[in-house]
Amino acid sequence: MGSADVRRLAILGSTGSIGTSTLAVVQAHPERLAIVALAAGRNLELFRQQCERFRPAYVSVAEAGDAGWLRSSLNYAPAIHFGTEGLLACALQSEADTLVAAVVGAAGLASTEAALRAGHRVCVANKEALVVGGELMHLALQAGGGELLPVDSEHAALHQLMAGRSPQLVREVRITASGGPFRDWSLERIQAATVVEALNHPTWKMGPKITIDSATLMNKGLEVIEASVLFGLRPEQIQVTLHPQSQVHAMVGFHDGTYQLQVCANDMKLPIQYALLYPERLDGPVPTYDWNQARTWTFGPPDLERFPCLALAYAALRVGGTAPAILNAANEEAVAAFLAGRIGFWGIQACVAQTLDAVPSEPARDLAQVMDSDSRARSRAREWLDRHIT
Ligand SMILES: NC(=O)c1ccc[n+]([C@@H]2O[C@H](COP(=O)([O-])OP(=O)(O)OC[C@H]3O[C@@H](n4cnc5c(N)ncnc54)[C@H](OP(=O)(O)O)[C@@H]3O)[C@@H](O)[C@H]2O)c1
Repeated sequence: MGSADVRRLAILGSTGSIGTSTLAVVQAHPERLAIVALAAGRNLELFRQQCERFRPAYVSVAEAGDAGWLRSSLNYAPAIHFGTEGLLACALQSEADTLVAAVVGAAGLASTEAALRAGHRVCVANKEALVVGGELMHLALQAGGGELLPVDSEHAALHQLMAGRSPQLVREVRITASGGPFRDWSLERIQAATVVEALNHPTWKMGPKITIDSATLMNKGLEVIEASVLFGLRPEQIQVTLHPQSQVHAMVGFHDGTYQLQVCANDMKLPIQYALLYPERLDGPVPTYDWNQARTWTFGPPDLERFPCLALAYAALRVGGTAPAILNAANEEAVAAFLAGRIGFWGIQACVAQTLDAVPSEPARDLAQVMDSDSRARSRAREWLDRHIT
């Protein structure tokens, strides 16, 4: 693609936090970014408005009945799909060259893998797809010759800091964590936290699942696994540093004791634009960083006793195979149960821990094997959740 060409996007999860930020970046660069396909779940009125505004030729929603509603509600006639097949249809449109994977959870796995295999640029916000798919994503990348660009702010930062460096050249990388709403809470208070308290993130405005993951620090655990997948780093090379101001997103430490840090405002439009337009750097979607404003940055270690989900993620990464998929599946089930008011906050880590213990990891040979571990883990987690309803 030449520098002045237009990138043609399929955005899966356009009605979410990342999806709407991506559309804002598209609106800021209409001469360089065009929409070919949009897919969403159940937020139909917002999706209808997005379709009217951007006129994608291909659209998809989660349910067949909603596809019918959309057909009768739109003032133009795109091809309308639904369900997992709909996500795949949008991801694989030959008119699109770039996929923005912004659905939440393992639901985004197949479309992410298929787009990599088809040779597209895939801008991945959907970290669960990388955690679950692991090495299979690299195989798809090699088979298709496409590109994988992270959208997660920490991994976009690492992409800039690593800049093609081999993992052997770095002693460690550090991804930062705001610490979430419970950073300074006692263990007893965290154990009794409510849904409203857990959804009250101090720094980022995000979808509900990742917001709960930020409160348990499972989000950081998933990001440790994601960093391992993306950059070929060993578990002991990936560290987490608490940094409540969320201005430094990641750092790379070299063998001589020197560190490089990446700094930018905590606005997801920045890493989204980086991934969409890489390697170009066009005018940013947020004001230039103000170094004349006096600030205090603090750094410290995470507390694994109050946030055991981070330790569970490291354990799954060390076990390897389908263990990260098992961790992720149990976490998705437990977070959904917590958000539905079925279990308490502390039940999330308990459910994940017991599922990891109960479901053996298998070699992650192909997607079918990974999805088999995913479904066995979900069944086991649901059994546990049914026995522990509060
Ligand atoms: N938000 C952030 O700042 C941030 C930062 C880094 C990484 N991420 C990652 O990016 C992903 C998205 O996060 P988010 O915060 O944007 O989540 P979100 O606000 O909950 O949005 C999720 C999107 O996925 C759609 N969706 C969910 N299940 C679907 C399905 N089965 N079929 C089709 N569409 C489906 C939703 O549609 P409806 O709403 O229409 O139902 C919505 O558009 C997550 O993996 C998260 O970890 C997010």
